Amino acid sequence: MITINDVKNDAEVKAIMYMAENQIEALGFTEHSVRHSSIVSKWAGEILEGVGAAQHRIELVRIAGYLHDIGNSVNREDHAQSGALLAYQILTRMGMEYRDAAEIMMAIGNHDEGQGLPVSDITSALIIADKADVHKSRVRSNTTRMNTENLNIHDRVNLAAERSLVYVDKETGEIVLNIVIDTSKCPVMDYFEIYFKRMQLCRRAADFLGRKFVLIINDVRFL
Ligand SMILES: [Fe+2]
Ligand SMILES: [Fe+2]
Repeated sequence: MITINDVKNDAEVKAIMYMAENQIEALGFTEHSVRHSSIVSKWAGEILEGVGAAQHRIELVRIAGYLHDIGNSVNREDHAQSGALLAYQILTRMGMEYRDAAEIMMAIGNHDEGQGLPVSDITSALIIADKADVHKSRVRSNTTRMNTENLNIHDRVNLAAERSLVYVDKETGEIVLNIVIDTSKCPVMDYFEIYFKRMQLCRRAADFLGRKFVLIINDVRFL
């Protein structure tokens, strides 16, 4: 079986991820680099593990998490769809079973809140892990907006996010997204403004996994 390490070490994957990061940087978006991909891969794996999925599904979601944003190498617009097709082509070239590669294709094609829906366990875990990654390290220090009031709402929210963590609570079985926001940098309402749609999608994704989704901001439970 193709493993997450095989994927990380693949020369074609490295080249495409490099280009995706270049394009996102040129556009001035929040970082979508190897750091983001690695954390989404790790969290998505932990979510499926936490709900008791088989080891094979866990490995597939780790790979989906690592590759989910490679479509940004083509264009930010519709990056979920272009990334899904790219991932399928790369993984079958590496020798992955067609069925497994198709599972990953479907998950990546559904990870974005624009058109995405939780259509499988792998898709659901990927959606939750991706939306959970909000952190100050995602704001580019070289952005031209940095020293001005032009910081956009995504930058403000990410800058204010001291910590974000997603996990399956062992006692309650709930899928918990726990965020610590520095409210002197950004009101919690800003967070809701950009994350409301994403949180709705997370709730549907948790539903698919038969779990309740809980959002905790600064120790207050919201959902
Ligand atoms: Fe994405
Ligand atoms: Fe992402």
